[in-house]
Amino acid sequence: MKDSLWKEGDILIQSSLAETLKRIRDYGRDGFYSGRTARLLVREMKRANGIISEQDLNEYRSVSRVPLTTDYKGYKIITVPPPSSGGIILIQLLKMIEPYPVKEWGFNSSQTIHLMVEAERRAFADRSEYPGDPDFVKIPVGQLVSRKYLLNRMSDFNKNRASLSLEIMPGSPEGYASEETTHYSVVDDAGNAVAATTTLNNSFGNSIVVDSAGFILNNQMDDFSVKPGFPNMYGLVGGEANSVQPGKRMLSSMTPSIVEKEGKLFLVLGSPGGSTIPTTVFQVIVNVLDFGMSIGQAVNAGRFHHQWLPDWISFEKDAIDSISSKKLTDMGHILKERASIGSINAIMILPGAKIAGGADKRGNNSSCGY
Ligand code: DON
Repeated sequence: MKDSLWKEGDILIQSSLAETLKRIRDYGRDGFYSGRTARLLVREMKRANGIISEQDLNEYRSVSRVPLTTDYKGYKIITVPPPSSGGIILIQLLKMIEPYPVKEWGFNSSQTIHLMVEAERRAFADRSEYPGDPDFVKIPVGQLVSRKYLLNRMSDFNKNRASLSLEIMPGSPEGYASEETTHYSVVDDAGNAVAATTTLNNSFGNSIVVDSAGFILNNQMDDFSVKPGFPNMYGLVGGEANSVQPGKRMLSSMTPSIVEKEGKLFLVLGSPGGSTIPTTVFQVIVNVLDFGMSIGQAVNAGRFHHQWLPDWISFEKDAIDSISSKKLTDMGHILKERASIGSINAIMILPGAKIAGGADKRGNNSSCGY
């Protein structure tokens, strides 16, 4: 139907998608990867010269993996393992900034931004080299997130000067040989929590709807590195660990995460935003744990991002005041304003087991209780 035929207030009924969801409800995995949905998907593939076959779908299995965990200032952080890079990056960032008095330096002051950006530059340099699908590459996860390695990684951090990304190579961990995404956070009355991020990659994925099945195909292949040094749509570069291979999962940046305080659930959070996801989750955690913000303030506060290459700080309008911006430029940073960074849906557990929702003003987010 042409756009012009739709009017405000019309109701879009996705009946094909409803039938697909019913098949998944009734047959579980087989409701999608075999039977009618699979046949419809393969028919769509043939129509558009795609290469996924019924056999590929039959052979696909989801995998349950053990989350990564760390401590940050007495809080327990529980986050996503590979094949997302997000959890490794989040832990690296928190550990790299932990020794510094960011609370004293202040939220989004030039000193705080400089420190967080230099940590981001180093974490994303490591991302370009080490992580990929753990079924295909041996990732030195333990070494990459170890306190000793990360202290060493920041040993050339200069409090007064920006480093150059061209001079910051991926680190050498000890013992090592060589935009549409949705996040939702849920907590129930028994204290169970879910942080889930799901993606088509960019808006509308590859823009093909499987006829009669009602869902859109993703273009997540862009999360692989097509060749060394060649950026993907988020400007991320990578190498062999994240090269394309049959049956391999591409390296994501999604970072669904949970924070515990004294062994009890405290935060549930995550975000869309491609390469900016781990840095978005990082800043919201620091906003709450270090700057004492409420979940609403933490989620809506201005954000910035650095991903090693390109070598600049991107920032949201009004996130960095003119004094900090001048100081950062004097230190040698390049600053570029961009549209919004990330879009968080978070939950915070308040004293007395009250639950607060933090729905980011940047997107179509909301919080509710049942
Ligand atoms: O898995 C990833 O890292 C990307 N495909 C996520 C893309 C994304 O967040 C786009 N949304 N704004």
